[in-house]
Amino acid sequence: MLQVITSISDIKNKIQTLKQNQLTIGFVPTMGALHEGHLSLVRQAKKENDQVFVSIFINPLQFGKNEDFRQYPRVFDKDCELLSSEGVDIVFNPIPAEMYPDDFCTSVIPRHLEDKLCGKSRPGHFRGVAVVVLKLFNLVKPDIAYFGQKDFQQTVVIKRIVSDLNLDVNIKILPTIRDNEGLALSSRNAYLNETEKKDALCLYSSLVKAQSMVNAGIKKAEEILLEMEKVINNCKTARIDYISIVNPETLAAVPRVRKGDVVALAVRIGKTRLIDNVIL
Ligand code: PAJ
Repeated sequence: MLQVITSISDIKNKIQTLKQNQLTIGFVPTMGALHEGHLSLVRQAKKENDQVFVSIFINPLQFGKNEDFRQYPRVFDKDCELLSSEGVDIVFNPIPAEMYPDDFCTSVIPRHLEDKLCGKSRPGHFRGVAVVVLKLFNLVKPDIAYFGQKDFQQTVVIKRIVSDLNLDVNIKILPTIRDNEGLALSSRNAYLNETEKKDALCLYSSLVKAQSMVNAGIKKAEEILLEMEKVINNCKTARIDYISIVNPETLAAVPRVRKGDVVALAVRIGKTRLIDNVIL
């Protein structure tokens, strides 16, 4: 039976009991509006742990002033139904005022990582992610935590925090789940109208183009990025925020592609900013 926990004291008590019984905890942090991408993480967590915790918390700290915090889809009851049918044990839905009381003042700053890629147009975003994920890890004390490759820079930041701060949690990154046409599933796809949904396919088409160029032996990043830009600029509603080929740990742009480098992009489709990436 799915149990919903909202208070910090309740989650601490629950975790203490599970730890006393030596049960392993798998954890999937989310902001809700769940789709098959989130559920793929949940299913893997089910396979590998005694207990599965999913957090649903729309973290105000990771949204910029002019971003979509207010509009972000809130469908808690539907999310719980989905999680219940996946056999999740606990949904942690913390109370914002308990997570961030008025006198909250601590930050976690992923220097060198936060000012690249998405960080450029979302200043403060990765600090917000860093602090909430650290808080959630401290509360849930997971053995394994699951994240999606879809949010590539986020995975790099989280792995860095775990390593830099010596956290006792194993991080697993799972592949991006896409719809039949290749569009990466995202809670923000709900903002797209029919035309925009079609145009949004240009993100994946450009990534496929990049991969096929690499497969054909082209290594020069500049040459690949140029072709990707052409694919995206063919779409009327698309506006490129960035496209970059980077080292998967430092996020530094690479001049020549090596196996394991990541091509990542953010594109605005109308008013909606979408991201995607592939490991080359
Ligand atoms: P959210 O966007 O809800 O995503 C929760 C998790 O689901 C993240 O690890 C994300 O990468 C993963 N995910 C989203 N779409 C996916 C897809 N199409 N395929 C595979 N995995 C996918 O990411 C966040 O929330 C927040 O930043 C959070 C980590 C919860 C901190 O607030």
